[in-house]
Amino acid sequence: MKIPSKAALLAAGWVAGAGPLVVAGAAEPGTRLSPVPAVPSLPATAPRPLAAGAGAPLAEGQGATAAFPGQSGAAPLKKDVPYVPTMESTVLEMLRLARVGPKDVVYDLGCGDGRIVIAGAQKYGARGVGVDIDPARIAESRENARAAGVEDRVRFEVGDLFETDISEATVVTLYLLPEVNLRLKPKLLAELKPGTRIVSHAFDMGDWTPEQVSTAAEGTVYLWRVPKR
Ligand SMILES: C[S@@+](CC[C@H](N)C(=O)[O-])C[C@H]1O[C@@H](n2cnc3c(N)ncnc32)[C@H](O)[C@@H]1O
Repeated sequence: MKIPSKAALLAAGWVAGAGPLVVAGAAEPGTRLSPVPAVPSLPATAPRPLAAGAGAPLAEGQGATAAFPGQSGAAPLKKDVPYVPTMESTVLEMLRLARVGPKDVVYDLGCGDGRIVIAGAQKYGARGVGVDIDPARIAESRENARAAGVEDRVRFEVGDLFETDISEATVVTLYLLPEVNLRLKPKLLAELKPGTRIVSHAFDMGDWTPEQVSTAAEGTVYLWRVPKR
């Protein structure tokens, strides 16, 4: 049975209103404060890398251990959203809906393994920036970009999406959660240039009516455009 991506993200351990998901850093692999099943066991996250040679998604905590062995005393990551990758067909629909082209700079806030930014560079020649709070995801993204041959067009940074300078973006992609989208909305409206397109997989922005809504095979995609100030 196919699990829709919205359900996949919610099933990956998030209980709305329960506060940020806290996963252990490198020091204590796998420790969780909420019951999160391993992501690869969910059918909706079946690995189908966009980039040649890209690795399959790792479970929460797993990547951090692999990428940074031997570190101890690392502070736990305070994630606002668990890691669940967007399926390939939905990635392509997000980029299509935003009409991504070679002049664009695509920011994926909470970029996971980098697949959206990498696909934007590979398929449309866009530049891109991925930001993720999890260093293991960023290491994976960089490796995937190398494998895809788009290292010169993309950049991946460890950081908190709420503290990242996004003013350079012409397209912002999101696969977060309803409450996180709402918290992010004032930043998007304040920092992005008018005309910047925002696409969100699965979740809307409350009372901000989208310009377009598309129902991709594995999930809904919403498009907004930052209005003139
Ligand atoms: C649902 S996944 C989406 C991954 C990717 N955008 C995709 O669609 O395939 C959400 C990602 O957000 C990251 N994340 C959670 N809270 C964050 C925060 N405050 N700042 C940056 N990244 C965060 C997680 O580590 C995870 O990789």
